[in-house]
Amino acid sequence: MSETQSAYNYKVVRQFTVMAVVWGIVGMLVGVIIAAQLVWPDLNIGFLHFGRLRPLHTNAVIFAFGGCALMGTSFYVVQRTCHTRIFCDKLAAFTFWGWQLVIVLAAITLPLGITSGKEYAELEWPIDILIAVVWVSYAIVFFGTIFKRKVSHIYVANWFYGGFILAVALLHIVNSVAIPVSLTKSYSAYAGVQDAMIQWWYGHNAVGFFLTAGFLGMMYYFVPKQAERPVYSYRLSVVHFWALIFTYMWAGPHHLHYTALPDWTQSLGMIFSLILLAPSWGGMINGIMTLSGAWHKLRDDPILKFLITSLSFYGMSTFEGPMMSIKTVNALSHYTDWTIGHVHSGALGWVAMISIGSIYYLLPRLFGKPEMHSVKLITVHFWVSTIGIVLYIASMWISGVMQGLMWRTVNSDGTLAYSFVESVKVSYPFWGIRLMGGVLFLSGMLIMAYNMAKTMAGGKIEDAPVLLPAGHHA
Ligand code: HEM
Ligand code: HEM
Repeated sequence: MSETQSAYNYKVVRQFTVMAVVWGIVGMLVGVIIAAQLVWPDLNIGFLHFGRLRPLHTNAVIFAFGGCALMGTSFYVVQRTCHTRIFCDKLAAFTFWGWQLVIVLAAITLPLGITSGKEYAELEWPIDILIAVVWVSYAIVFFGTIFKRKVSHIYVANWFYGGFILAVALLHIVNSVAIPVSLTKSYSAYAGVQDAMIQWWYGHNAVGFFLTAGFLGMMYYFVPKQAERPVYSYRLSVVHFWALIFTYMWAGPHHLHYTALPDWTQSLGMIFSLILLAPSWGGMINGIMTLSGAWHKLRDDPILKFLITSLSFYGMSTFEGPMMSIKTVNALSHYTDWTIGHVHSGALGWVAMISIGSIYYLLPRLFGKPEMHSVKLITVHFWVSTIGIVLYIASMWISGVMQGLMWRTVNSDGTLAYSFVESVKVSYPFWGIRLMGGVLFLSGMLIMAYNMAKTMAGGKIEDAPVLLPAGHHA
């Protein structure tokens, strides 16, 4: 067997990976602050009030933390599995710096109240244009690397990353079409219920592609790697891919139940959401079953604990989501903390945990170390964050169901049995518990940052040439 020598660009992977941890801490700190503001309203100080900080939190955790984790891991995975260096170093560097600029601009404009008012697409039009440019450069680097691959096969993780990159480009461009009236203000090109439908087509697919498909790419690379087992079923992974991307596109109307959206559209969204359970669970099973024959590794490998627990939360939130999309269930859950619980079982349990596991896998490899500075601290991180998530989501379920039931209870004469403030009073202790869960999760991230800094210290950080036997699967 002949040997080919191939050097990878790890610099851009290192940059994104370190920034994922940094932005994770910033975004979650803002999450903790807004959770505290709900407990102690006096913490709403000046313009840094809940209304301004909430979108800062969602943008920071989804696009800064999640985005950096996705871009970093995808650049690593695409190089390793294509056995080739990244397509264009300069464009990859532009992608990194451009994305950081987007994040900084978001951190400045959102607290100032500069917003388009569309959830998860709040940034104003000049930043939207910058996002589109950076995203196109990301796509060119990623697909350019696929085109110059040295193996004929395209590993399934790249299908998921590729699907995520294409879909997000489409979603962002269509949903952001707007008429600018000044540098900091624009109005959507769509109006009324069409605007709402485009927004939630975008919003739900942001969940489906940004918060799911990209992270499934991570799952398909890092779970088999860390478990040292092949993917459970390659055939299932291909079915999983096509079924998932096809179905997600239709589920958006479940965000608009009981609105002016035509009734049949709402029902269609509900049915596609129910169908979505199947590909979602297919993916989860494929990930968890990859551990077949290696279950014992779960006992003392905290990285694997993160990866597999994330899949359990993925399964849980993708069971809960279809249930919440049923119109009668949604009549109870909508507007309540139940939605917030669902969001964070997906966001903390799935998105954050799979990223954390993958980053722990990457860090020693990127900084020329045999392993993380302290494996024990990874275990501590795992338990602290798991307890944090459980406190967060269990408290939100209880307060959410309570709120929903109180708001719909009527007296025999048809008047409401409870005033709104009564539902706030009973929710109050649960907001305290959520805050505790958030503080625990954030503490775990700080432990990770310490472990990361120690691992980075004194490491070799050049792009070391890597010897690969031809045909070897990285
Ligand atoms: C089969 C998969 C899923 C389905 C069918 C689903 C369904 C739903 C439904 C019905 C809602 C409530 C809509 C409302 O009442 O306004 C919702 C909200 C939400 N879900 Fe899911 N979900 C799924 C998976 C996930 C996952 C894995 C995540 C995160 C990683 C997630 C993140 C969200 C977010 C962020 C919201 C709140 C949107 C808002 O701002 O109103 N979902 N989902
Ligand atoms: C320390 C961790 C975190 C804390 C304490 C936290 C806290 C919060 C709070 C208090 C809210 C507002 C809830 C409300 O309006 O009643 C919120 C909303 C949200 N958070 Fe987090 N969060 C954390 C981590 C994350 C992460 C890692 C993600 C995503 C990857 C995320 C995604 C979201 C989203 C999408 C919403 C909006 C939900 C909706 O509109 O339905 N959060 N978070």
